Amino acid sequence: MCGIVAYIGHRQASDVIIKGLKRLEYRGYDSAGIALMNGDLNIYKKQGKVSELEKHLEGENLSSTIGIGHTRWATHGEPNDVNAHPHFSESGNLAIIHNGIIENYSSLKEELTNKGYTFKSETDSEVFINFIEDIYKNSKDVSLEEAVRLALTKVVGAYAIVIMSKDNPEQLIAARKGSPLVIGVGKDEFFLASDATPIVEYTNEVIYVNDYEIALIKDGKVSVRDTKDVKMTPYIQKVDLELEAIEKGGFEHFMLKEIYEQPKSIKDCFRGRLKANDGKLVLGGIREYSNALINAERIVIVACGTSWHAGLVAEYIFEEFCRIPVEVEYASEFRYRNPVIKEGDIMFAISQSGETADTLAAMELAKSKGAVVLGVCNVVGSSISRVSHEGVYTHAGPEIGVASTKAFTAQLTVLTMIALRVAHRKGTLAEQRYREILVDLENIPNKVAKALETDKQVEKIAALFKDARNFLYLGRGYNFPVALEGALKLKEISYIHAEGYPAAEMKHGPIALIDEEMPVVFIATRDSSYDKIVSNIQEVKARKGKVIAIVSEGDSLIPGMVDHTIEVPGTHEALMPMVATIPLQLLSYHIAVMRGTNVDQPRNLAKSVTVE
Ligand code: F6R
Repeated sequence: MCGIVAYIGHRQASDVIIKGLKRLEYRGYDSAGIALMNGDLNIYKKQGKVSELEKHLEGENLSSTIGIGHTRWATHGEPNDVNAHPHFSESGNLAIIHNGIIENYSSLKEELTNKGYTFKSETDSEVFINFIEDIYKNSKDVSLEEAVRLALTKVVGAYAIVIMSKDNPEQLIAARKGSPLVIGVGKDEFFLASDATPIVEYTNEVIYVNDYEIALIKDGKVSVRDTKDVKMTPYIQKVDLELEAIEKGGFEHFMLKEIYEQPKSIKDCFRGRLKANDGKLVLGGIREYSNALINAERIVIVACGTSWHAGLVAEYIFEEFCRIPVEVEYASEFRYRNPVIKEGDIMFAISQSGETADTLAAMELAKSKGAVVLGVCNVVGSSISRVSHEGVYTHAGPEIGVASTKAFTAQLTVLTMIALRVAHRKGTLAEQRYREILVDLENIPNKVAKALETDKQVEKIAALFKDARNFLYLGRGYNFPVALEGALKLKEISYIHAEGYPAAEMKHGPIALIDEEMPVVFIATRDSSYDKIVSNIQEVKARKGKVIAIVSEGDSLIPGMVDHTIEVPGTHEALMPMVATIPLQLLSYHIAVMRGTNVDQPRNLAKSVTVE
């Protein structure tokens, strides 16, 4: 939610910032803006995408080696030019970019209004910068850095901020709590951003700013203190991110590129962990807590959206292989409902971005009750990975398309590996079966590659159904979460209403929706509920629904019953979600392209949901 970029050094700041904002546009694209010290402290901002800002900047003299920029996902105030960031303080002396939400902004605003401040925008961020200015102006001998620190002790909410000042034209002040902030350290130059993607083409040395830390960048140095005024030692680490991983590489959209990357991203997930022939499965990320996991009386999984769907598949896998009861919770519900969680419980928090506010809060709650919290996260160094006691990275590489694809299959891969490891150590899975499943797992990248070969066929089916107003997705067992995920993918990028349901539940309500207009996607691969789902298909056909079925290669029964079949290679049923989800990703992708929607940046969505 919102991307921030800032630069101080010897380059043209506007070039670094605009390029960086484009890389961060997945975080929000309602408006964009930039502040530069080009003669004076100037702000340029525009509703819409970064390309609109670029047009707006044409002909301007942008000469400045310091600047801050922002791409917005609106929280307070509608997306328009005025609410776009950066925001000036009332005097015009300070400019701020802010990602997050200031929860006590209305009381701060009232306080400032009583003092005579006026506000141009409806944003909490403009209140925030005026609050800082008020402290700065009215406290004797207080530096701007100190004023920021004092303000932060009074502010409730989440923020990653960067501040520029006319009086101190050669410094940037940045701070974080709850929203991500990375500082790239170059030679006599610094890059600040919400994640490392705008930074990696200049330097691979970064500092991940921690919650409650304030960084002052001045005279070629970064100094960090916390909000209690304790000096901190910034820890510089190397970030392992290739530039081509964050570019489209010839694909029309990031989403398609990421769909096609899955054979590789799943392999990357195995790297150094899985050697099926030797029966070897090593998960270096869970060491200290591996016994706690094996002896767990209960596992609670928290996540949101697609990651929650991965959690549902994991529930089936952990219960079947490890015989540990599992509950899967929407993080947003869990955190607010006084849940029963205690010592001896294990929580898995699943997140691609590692920044999802609800998931983070659910983890904090579980930790406070004594549970062990393990992260399954894609972004290295992200907040969730740091709040976890231990965890396993999914190593899918940066996922830029807002609709999650390769992160989902990587989450399934990691969760399956964890479950297999636990089952093996607990002895709940016989050696022979364990080894067979490891071999099947190692083969999944090839099967995913094969499933990708359905692309052209799926595109033709997409053309037939692109104008449908509703879709139903049905599956059973391991394929039920796949149905949910298929429906979510379609909804979010094509804006077609879609529902995922357990196929047997259909007759308890949704069956009323079925007529000759209703496309119904069945995930009906050969597994233990195959015969049952065949009956469910018949129930839909009897009501003239149009059925698209995802089936296992060589299925000779279902093709005779349905309108369209898409074959995917067979595998162990617990691993099938990784394969069966591929044609569903492609279906939603092609339908969205045919409907002319913005596939990579669907309306109203953002990649990283750092607000609750
Ligand atoms: C769907 C999608 C979202 C995310 C959800 C959680 O395609 O991307 O539903 O899965 O916002 O995000 P993470 O996994 O970053 O916690």
